[in-house]
Amino acid sequence: MKKEDKGCCTIPSLKEVYQAYFPIGAAIEVVNVERYSDLLKKHFNAMTLENSLKWPNIHPGKDDYRFEPADRLVDFAMSHGMRIHGHTLVWYAMGTPEWVYYAEDGAMASRELLLERMQEHIHTVVGRYKGKVAAWDVVNEAIENTDNGRQYHDGEYLQIIGPDYIKKAFQFAHEADPDALLFYNEYQIEFSIKRGKTLRMLKEFREEGIPIHGIGIQSHETLDVPSLGELRDAIETFAALGLKIHISELDLSVYPYRDTTCLYKGLTPELLERQAVRYGELFKVFREYRDVIYGVTFWGAADDHTWLDHGIRRTWPFLFDDDLKPKPAFWSVAQF
Ligand code: G3I
Repeated sequence: MKKEDKGCCTIPSLKEVYQAYFPIGAAIEVVNVERYSDLLKKHFNAMTLENSLKWPNIHPGKDDYRFEPADRLVDFAMSHGMRIHGHTLVWYAMGTPEWVYYAEDGAMASRELLLERMQEHIHTVVGRYKGKVAAWDVVNEAIENTDNGRQYHDGEYLQIIGPDYIKKAFQFAHEADPDALLFYNEYQIEFSIKRGKTLRMLKEFREEGIPIHGIGIQSHETLDVPSLGELRDAIETFAALGLKIHISELDLSVYPYRDTTCLYKGLTPELLERQAVRYGELFKVFREYRDVIYGVTFWGAADDHTWLDHGIRRTWPFLFDDDLKPKPAFWSVAQF
């Protein structure tokens, strides 16, 4: 693509620049859809629902489904030709309300009851958006993150059902919409130990014919990690299983997680420049692997809304600033 004067009024459309490569997505909350409307229409051709499809939000009580926020986002995405990614059906952490784990009499749910609830939830949610949501993060973050020898995170699903809860979730999702693509979504799988554990699980899925089509490499990045070599290893490892690769939650904080120096240093020109260089390097890798990359989705759209910010802590992780204007990082992704 021809380099243009960055001072020029013409801002290229990211989705058009990447037309021959992969869709460009953004994770969106319903409260932001109007404010981001023009930005989304111009630059993005895929949408993940950041929170509206999560179990506590869409199904907070046993007979209580709240579809309205997800319906609004799905309608917006459909009417603007955006491919929709459903996030997420089964997640041990903030992804499941407490009631799900207990029987009516207050005792812990049995394996049968929890499987029945999972199936009912998945059939209802996937069924409602059948033909609209192209792909689902069926299970999110099930692999143990620390190097303690355990394969799976030790939560209620594992304790009550056993490790086959993951396979069951994929089977339930496939029953509900046989045409939907089904993904396993995970963080920090660029690093060798967790990558190895994830590979072991996915190989087993392949051998047993579990319906799975792709993996989400979340990609919550910083200026230094993961290395480009680790990123390549992850893409190649999972693509070798025949899985599609979704860069599913991309953001690039200019300060490492839990670093509080941002509070007095702020966003310096040097950090903006380093972020631009790093984003440019990452997208160069993504373009190289375009044959296996299903899409690249940012975990937000502009710096004014990100899970990484808490109170006065700021991280400035995206291509667009608080006023939805392109940052230096935008130009290094859009012009290559
Ligand atoms: O909507 C309520 C609001 O009414 C209330 O005043 C406020 C008080 O804390 O909370 C608001 O809800 C929060 C919600 O985000 C909306 O901002 C929840 O407390 C908070 O837990 C929720 O956090 C989300 C988190 O997942 C847990 O579901 C983040 O937005 C979301 O970005 C984050 O996304 C996860 C992915 O699903 C999985 N991978 C990691 C990623 C980042 O943690």
